[in-house]
Amino acid sequence: MNIVTKVESWLEFRKLLTDKKIGFVPTMGHLHDGHGSLFKRAKQENDIVVASIFINPTQFNQSNDFANYPRTLDHDVAFLQSFEVDYLFLPEASEIYPDDYQFQMTENVLSVELEGEYRPGHFNGMLTVVLKLLNIIQADRAYFGEKDYQQLLLVEKMVKALFLPVKIIPCETIRAKDNVALSSRNSRLNEEQRLKASHFPRLLQSELSSFEITDELKKLGFKVDYIVEKWQRRLGAVWLDDIRLIDNFSL
Ligand code: PAF
Repeated sequence: MNIVTKVESWLEFRKLLTDKKIGFVPTMGHLHDGHGSLFKRAKQENDIVVASIFINPTQFNQSNDFANYPRTLDHDVAFLQSFEVDYLFLPEASEIYPDDYQFQMTENVLSVELEGEYRPGHFNGMLTVVLKLLNIIQADRAYFGEKDYQQLLLVEKMVKALFLPVKIIPCETIRAKDNVALSSRNSRLNEEQRLKASHFPRLLQSELSSFEITDELKKLGFKVDYIVEKWQRRLGAVWLDDIRLIDNFSL
């Protein structure tokens, strides 16, 4: 696997790949089997797979969340190699933000509700970095998990609005045995929190109303940001102590 840290170097490699189909999986590292399923699919559908690891500072609305975000590069490199990923793009923040974040990508409708309401600025940062990464990598297909459903919708909407020459491939959420969605943040749950966390997906896909689910979660000790039905899905965001979980199921 080639590890590329500079935009210029990637563009040199990219020139040699004009006759290849390129699949791109953007990540923030701390890779798990959820990412694994994206690499596997990208490998099946393309000649070359590029992954990026960039813990994007502009999409964290709380500085301690950015500071606490797990950084596991050695594990991640071995994980990518086990999926035969061809290139890892691993830039520094200065490489991605030569403009010091003076240019931003903003969406005004979908991004202001749910996650946008509870995490101000998050989607600006996410859309900005995804736009930059898509422009740099110039892939044929880019893979996004359905776990971050609102993110997926926004990326699809941006690609359409800006005529970006890439196809966005949505990929199903991968779950642990207790049905909790795999997520880099969930690895911070201790044993007791983990037991409690499994009630979140259980209730989210139950026959109960969103109001009843909120009630049940509160009784179990969760702090609930929202449980709503939208986009033919039921989506939720909750806190277990200082760890925030999001999830969604198709209705
Ligand atoms: O879902 C993520 O890991 C991030 O939001 C992404 C798409 C890599 C952008 O930083």
